[in-house]
Amino acid sequence: MISDIKRKKYMKFIIETYGCQMNVADSELIVSILNNAGLTHTENIDDAQIIIFNTCSVRENAEKRVIGRITSEVSRKSHQNNLLVGIVGCMAQRLGEELKKINKKIDFVVGVDQYSLLPEIIEDCLNNNDFISKTTLNQAEIYNDLYPTRSNPLNAFITIMRGCNNFCTYCIVPFTRGRERSRPIKEILSEIELAGQNKSFEVTLLGQNVNSYSFENNDFPDLLQKANEIDSIRRIRFVTSHPKDLSDKLIETMATYEKVCEHIHLPLQSGNNEILNKMNRKYTAEHYLNLINKLRKAMPDIAITTDVIAGFPSETEEQYLDTLNIMKEIQFDFAYMFKYSERTGTKAADFEDSIPETTRLYRLQNLIDQQTEITTAKYKKKIGSIQEVYVECKSKRNSNEMSGKTRDFKITVFDGNESLINQFVKVKIVDAVGWTLKGIKN
Ligand code: 5AD
Ligand code: SF4
Repeated sequence: MISDIKRKKYMKFIIETYGCQMNVADSELIVSILNNAGLTHTENIDDAQIIIFNTCSVRENAEKRVIGRITSEVSRKSHQNNLLVGIVGCMAQRLGEELKKINKKIDFVVGVDQYSLLPEIIEDCLNNNDFISKTTLNQAEIYNDLYPTRSNPLNAFITIMRGCNNFCTYCIVPFTRGRERSRPIKEILSEIELAGQNKSFEVTLLGQNVNSYSFENNDFPDLLQKANEIDSIRRIRFVTSHPKDLSDKLIETMATYEKVCEHIHLPLQSGNNEILNKMNRKYTAEHYLNLINKLRKAMPDIAITTDVIAGFPSETEEQYLDTLNIMKEIQFDFAYMFKYSERTGTKAADFEDSIPETTRLYRLQNLIDQQTEITTAKYKKKIGSIQEVYVECKSKRNSNEMSGKTRDFKITVFDGNESLINQFVKVKIVDAVGWTLKGIKN
């Protein structure tokens, strides 16, 4: 605890979050930890005495971007006495004390399982002016008994498991977030119930691989079935699913239980079996296609989104074309597409890699071009349908319009006023502009 009550009261912190939803959820935990220690959260960096960067290591670009931001913000120290700058998240975990070499003005580096120590660490930094690095991974840490301070009041991100055991050969996450562990089901269910009571009628269950959730004989579909019974919420989403663990039971549960939304994010990564094998993904393109068929048979209107990587080491033109072709065949609603980025310490970093950067970029661009057409067509197909929209906010473009999401995760705007925020409204879709549906209240 920060002992100097007066100082504590006036200390404000800001957290800038990069990367995936897990980091967003972790930042919400950190806000609660620091609030409980008597510090105050601010959204205004000029007000902050503590700046925390919650970082991502998944690709080199993500790291470079945050290093640029850190460099730019530590310069505030020249005119702001006692300003603390700390790094948390995957980069903190991966680089630890090395971050101090990258920028010697950084005050603390705290890894993903050490956030409970943040108040003490901040106190020590203030008292001793010393650099502190705490990055031990702790398999036991699941941040139970800590209710996150939600950044989005309408959709509660609820972490159901931490870490990853899959060791896809390109991926740094198993190294930065440690081994997989599931939170107790009772804890999760009470967090869902509380979120609903706090008027977050939509919850998103989070984990690196939610399909392998397991707690005392409860698997992920069991968790969904129990969550579906909670009266205070109306919608349940989840990310991310791994194709190797997506069971028939999960598909049946999604189709049967009303609150579970018709959307699945199912990273494909590649459409070529040899590359999938080199990636250690443990499924084939045929298995993936079979899953898509089963999902669409059970839920004809399900939205399917994915992640793919262009230019994995040794990927040939033919192998990349397999990815392009399977994406055309599947017709994803949306895809996050990345060019391969080498991550030191992963297995793939040791693979022979002779693909020129220009080839990687060209493959990525082709994937993006094709998917943009598919996504546009998918959105246009919704014209004429009636969708349930969970209204979140005013539209950014037009203040007479409200914006929200359909059950299948498509942003939808329609004429309306702020009294509709946090309500479920039936909207008839009349147009699709870019990746936004436009509608009228039905
Ligand atoms: N290079 C490029 N993309 C990566 N991803 C993970 N690691 C890498 C990497 N080294 C992508 C995967 C994953 C998503 C979150 O990020 O597609 O599903
Ligand atoms: Fe990374 Fe694979 Fe784990 Fe996803 S499942 S976090 S891609 S190792």
